[in-house]
Amino acid sequence: MRENVHIMDHPLIQHKLTMIRDVNTGPKEFRELVEELSMLMAYEVTRNLPLEEVEIETPLCKTKSKCISGKKVGIVPILRAGLGMVNGMLKLIPAAKVGHIGLYRDPETLKPVEYYCKLPPDMNERELILLDPMLATGGSACAGISFLKEKGAANVKLMCLIAAPEGIEAVCKAHPDVEIYTAAVDERLNDHAYIIPGLGDAGDRLFGTK
Ligand code: PRP
Ligand code: URA
Repeated sequence: MRENVHIMDHPLIQHKLTMIRDVNTGPKEFRELVEELSMLMAYEVTRNLPLEEVEIETPLCKTKSKCISGKKVGIVPILRAGLGMVNGMLKLIPAAKVGHIGLYRDPETLKPVEYYCKLPPDMNERELILLDPMLATGGSACAGISFLKEKGAANVKLMCLIAAPEGIEAVCKAHPDVEIYTAAVDERLNDHAYIIPGLGDAGDRLFGTK
């Protein structure tokens, strides 16, 4: 596997991933599990945030202790399925600003179509985490990363739940500077560019559509 791809093999992540793959898991449980998975993955995605030493006072004495330094974090879900990952991230990084990029995959061309974009200010000062549960052909993720870079982002990470090898290749080729965090790399895409074995349509399963 490429060195900028991080597969999160923690047992809790793998267990919950199995549950969301299961066709018998309904929208309520699916949403809860996606939120929990995002929270667990946030822990690893933020591993390299810079720390600084601050002076505090415990009930017993003054001491120096570490806290996250001024680095600003932005999280950017790709609508709509990325929305399911926002609350889990915000539970661990409550001060993060949230941008939104609206993209859907045209069923005929399989190319991403933009319909909304609202991003936080100071994009160049932020560590940005782009959220989308599914990295299939990589078209949506590549377009999302390009939007962020066009708006000045210099530091982007991509967090997904399931990636196809084709999507990883596409992102690594177009954006070799972007680290990819995923819970699994699946076998392949089918003829409709759905991930196999995957979990089906993430947006439909989150929101109960279809
Ligand atoms: C899904 C998914 C990704 C995209 C992945 O969104 O959430 O955004 O497909 O496919 P790609 O890697 O081939 O671009 P979809 O277009 O189904 O829209 P939705 O989230 O609104 O359901
Ligand atoms: N989008 C999804 O929601 N699922 C896939 O398997 C591929 C694209």
